[in-house]
Amino acid sequence: MTVLSIRYESESDNAKSGSRTTPDYKNWMPKGMVLGMACTAAVFLLLGIVTLLTPISEPVKKIMIPILFVITAIFIFISFWMLLMYRAFSYDGKRKMSKQIIEGVAAYINIPDGGKGLDVGCGSGALTIACAKKNPNSLWTGIDRWGKEYASFNKKLCESNAEAEGVSNVSFMQGNALKLPFENETFDAVTSNYVYHNIPSNNRQEILLETLRTLKKGGSFAIHDIMSKAKYGEMKSFVEKLKSMGYSEVKLVDTTNGMFMSKWESTWMGLSGSAILMGRK
Ligand SMILES: C[S@@+](CC[C@H](N)C(=O)[O-])C[C@H]1O[C@@H](n2cnc3c(N)ncnc32)[C@H](O)[C@@H]1O
Repeated sequence: MTVLSIRYESESDNAKSGSRTTPDYKNWMPKGMVLGMACTAAVFLLLGIVTLLTPISEPVKKIMIPILFVITAIFIFISFWMLLMYRAFSYDGKRKMSKQIIEGVAAYINIPDGGKGLDVGCGSGALTIACAKKNPNSLWTGIDRWGKEYASFNKKLCESNAEAEGVSNVSFMQGNALKLPFENETFDAVTSNYVYHNIPSNNRQEILLETLRTLKKGGSFAIHDIMSKAKYGEMKSFVEKLKSMGYSEVKLVDTTNGMFMSKWESTWMGLSGSAILMGRK
C-alpha cells in the first residue's frame, strides 16, 4: 500500500503565521460542537447551583435539583466523549486517525494517466488532495454541500489547502451527493469518505448508485463509510447486486479490524461498521 507523505500543521500555527503555507484540514468533530456541548453543561450546572441557593419551596427544590444535576452529568459525559473524538481525529494529536484514514482510502484509488477523479463530500479537501497528489497526471474534482453542520469546511479552505500542498490538479465545487451535477460516466475513479451516513435517507444504497452513475465503464471506486446494516441495509446483497450489474472486483473491506482503527475504537467512537466498498464498473 502506498503511503502518502502529507504535511499537517495546527490551526493555531496557521492563524499565527497569517498566510497559509501548510494545509489546515480542520476536524471531523467540529470544535464549535465540543465547545457548545461544554457550555450547555456549564449552563445546567449553574442553573442547578442557583436552584440550590435560591429560597424556593423545598418540594420544588427536591424535584428540580436532581433533574438539573442529571442533565449536567449527561452533557459533561457527551462533551468529554466529543473531546476524545476531537483529539483522536486531530491532525496535530498523537493518534492522527483522520490522516490514517485519508491516506488509507487514497491508497486504493486506481486512475489512468489523464483520467478524471471525483471525491464526493470533500469537506476540507483532504481526500481529493491526497488522491491528486498520489496521481499527479489525473484531474480531481471535490464536491461538497458545505452546509452549516460542518461550518468550518468550505471551498476556499479546500483551495488554500491544495495550494499549501502544492497540488494544482484539483478543483472544488458546491453540490449535493443526492443529485450530482455530472453526466453519466464522467469520471475514471470515484471516492468518498465518511459522507453518506450524514445524509438523512432511508436508502443509502441509492446514494451509492448515484455516485457510481458518474463513473465510466471500467472506472474504479473506493468509498469508505459506516456501512452498518442500520445505516445502509444489507450490504452483502448490494455487493452481489453490483456484480450482477456487471461490476467486477467488488468487495467490502472492514476497516475496523486494525486497518484504520481497532474494534474498540470503532465501538466507542460510534464508527462500527466502517468499511470500504471498492471495485470496478
Ligand atoms: C465527516 S465530513 C468528511 C469530509 C471529507 N470526506 C474527509 O474525509 O475529510 C462529512 C462531509 O460530508 C459533507 N456532506 C454531507 N451531506 C452532503 C451532501 N448531501 N452532499 C455533499 N456533501 C455532503 C459535509 O458537508 C462534510 O464536509
